[in-house]
Amino acid sequence: MRVGILTGGGDCPGLNAVIRAVVTKGERQYGDEVVGFRNGWAGVMEGDVMPLDAERCRDILPLGGTILGTSRANPYATEGGAQAVRATLQRERVEALIAVGGDDTLSVAGQLAAEGVIVLGVPKTIDNDLGVTEVTFGFHTAVQTATEAIDRLRTTAESHHRVMVVEVMGRDTGWIATYAGIAGGATEILIPEEPFDIAAVSERLRAHHGRDTSSSVVVVAEGARPVDGDIVVQSDQRDAFGHVRLGGVGRLVADEIEARTGFETRLTVLGHVQRGGTPTAFDRVLATRFGIAAIDAVHDGHSGMAAVLQAGQIRLAPIADLTTETKVVDRTLYETVAGALVSLPG
Ligand code: F6P
Repeated sequence: MRVGILTGGGDCPGLNAVIRAVVTKGERQYGDEVVGFRNGWAGVMEGDVMPLDAERCRDILPLGGTILGTSRANPYATEGGAQAVRATLQRERVEALIAVGGDDTLSVAGQLAAEGVIVLGVPKTIDNDLGVTEVTFGFHTAVQTATEAIDRLRTTAESHHRVMVVEVMGRDTGWIATYAGIAGGATEILIPEEPFDIAAVSERLRAHHGRDTSSSVVVVAEGARPVDGDIVVQSDQRDAFGHVRLGGVGRLVADEIEARTGFETRLTVLGHVQRGGTPTAFDRVLATRFGIAAIDAVHDGHSGMAAVLQAGQIRLAPIADLTTETKVVDRTLYETVAGALVSLPG
């Protein structure tokens, strides 16, 4: 069978592990010929193909990024895009396509499947915001990176008796902030799901400093917003899926804290460092399991389904179920685990 694979949307650690699993199992167990499309849906529309085999994938398991490249191209927002996708698949004799991506890439995959193209999905994103699957690969690595950064910031915060504000990614959810904040022992964790009152945050920091320390770390998710304000965006310009570029709330939080408490405050924006580098062992394993499930699903005759993790098992779920609902941070986790050890907004 001739199978195509693409990686779309923001990259994340573990993408190469999926590619390796699909290609190696496809070739060795099913006798498949696997081709990669470069740069997400752009490569499928343009017919930008690269041959893949087990030998090419031999050393890519620990490699961050994606050997296929990625983009945020959207065939349904491009004139003639969906027809171009179908034409390429026909020309390249690709019988089934595996799309590895977040909600945007998978929503295109779901639509194509509904129109009769054989497409399987593999969920990925550092944001961990896709429904149905307990976790997406890339998230664990991003949390580890953010936690290491917090650990480092803590020592310099203590030396200088400062407040360190750390802005992390996560789009409209606070998964990275919550996990890294708990793991790093942050004093405050500000997430989109719980709008914050900066006066109350500053008050709690003042009490915290007066009590047993003279420094603190405040973790802010890029999508967090004040109770009386809007989310902060870097640019109003929207991508092909309608997303604005988030970022900047950390500056607002740091300036307000310094002004209200008088504590010297510094800001670190972690940015894309959270998306780069080698995947953790957890993400390598999950990505490999997803890749294997996807190529198996192709040979079991499925379409319009994605590999997901549920109760520790890999299962298949309709792609639409992953993309219609954003998985927000579990309130119990935020309030009981984080709340018991850090002060929370409110
Ligand atoms: O969805 C992953 C993500 O890293 C978000 O956390 C972030 O808001 C966005 O992508 C950044 O996108 P870009 O790489 O296009 O700047």
